[in-house]
Amino acid sequence: MSGGLGFLSSLDLRCGLGLLRLSTEGRPTEPDAIAVIHHALDRGIRLLDTADVYCLGEADLHYGERLARKAVDTWHGPREEIRIVTKAGLARPKGRWVPNGRPEHLRKAVDGSLQALGVEQLFALLLHANDPRTPFEDQLGTLAELQRAGKIAHLGLCNVSIAEVRQAQRHFSVSAIQNELSVIDRKSATEGVVALAADLQAPFLAFRVLGGHAKVDTILKNRAVAPIAARHKVTPHEAALVVVWEAGPHVVPLIGATKIERIDSCPRPRKPPPRWPHRLRPAVFGSFPRARAPAMNRRSYC
Ligand SMILES: NC(=O)c1ccc[n+]([C@@H]2O[C@H](COP(=O)([O-])OP(=O)(O)OC[C@H]3O[C@@H](n4cnc5c(N)ncnc54)[C@H](OP(=O)(O)O)[C@@H]3O)[C@@H](O)[C@H]2O)c1
Repeated sequence: MSGGLGFLSSLDLRCGLGLLRLSTEGRPTEPDAIAVIHHALDRGIRLLDTADVYCLGEADLHYGERLARKAVDTWHGPREEIRIVTKAGLARPKGRWVPNGRPEHLRKAVDGSLQALGVEQLFALLLHANDPRTPFEDQLGTLAELQRAGKIAHLGLCNVSIAEVRQAQRHFSVSAIQNELSVIDRKSATEGVVALAADLQAPFLAFRVLGGHAKVDTILKNRAVAPIAARHKVTPHEAALVVVWEAGPHVVPLIGATKIERIDSCPRPRKPPPRWPHRLRPAVFGSFPRARAPAMNRRSYC
């Protein structure tokens, strides 16, 4: 396995592109969104992160997957290198974000994703969130059953605690963990989920690495980032991104850009520019403990 990236190790990943904001409220036009994705692919990004619920509401389900498929189909580079990670386990009634891990919902979502992506098997499916109204065992068992049926190659989890990952491992091999991680929200590092992913040789797909759309401006005055940005002469957002990237060789930041120029802040595969700051981990996250942590606060997911 190279670089701790597990099932993604055939790729040289620095970043993935998240399609959330290209698919939801305030999204750009489809041609503009495809231009952003193409720019990311041209820059060497090979991982696209989407979900069945990256859309405007129930009438628009699977929009993000259809967008990813169209972008890949119309790109003129090496399409076979691109990996699409999708998710199931939420619903969008009236545009809200609501967990739904009922077995019948998960089965329907996976069939919809297969159709939207135009494949016979999903490369990777993550459970979007643990639905508190459905026994976790039932959600995990359903995903394992769908994998055994050949509909999913790799399974993973989002918005999870250590205990939930351990529980999932009894049903299937957890191939990826996707949690929030940034200089604003360090819980996954301090509570040991980042370290657990490394132990499992599973990539840790970090989301809201810039704090997410709502908090992205707070990075500008973040006390951890400001001195790093000044010392290395990069923007605070670039410094915040690289801090996450430096959290471990298995950590892949997902960037949520909707503008082409933002993509250029993502380090290129293999050869990050020499000006990127290195060895920032001790300064910002500390060493990652293997703590047995309480369940994470999962109030907001998308
Ligand atoms: N599993 C989950 O529950 C979950 C939850 C949230 C997100 N995610 C995934 O993670 C991805 C990223 O999440 P996110 O979009 O919330 O977080 P984010 O990348 O932290 O934030 C996106 C915001 O950052 C801005 N931005 C990007 N690059 C920038 C730069 N270089 N300088 C200044 N601003 C910059 C974007 O602006 P512009 O729009 O102007 O480009 C956008 O407003 C999502 O697309 C999704 O795939 C998963």
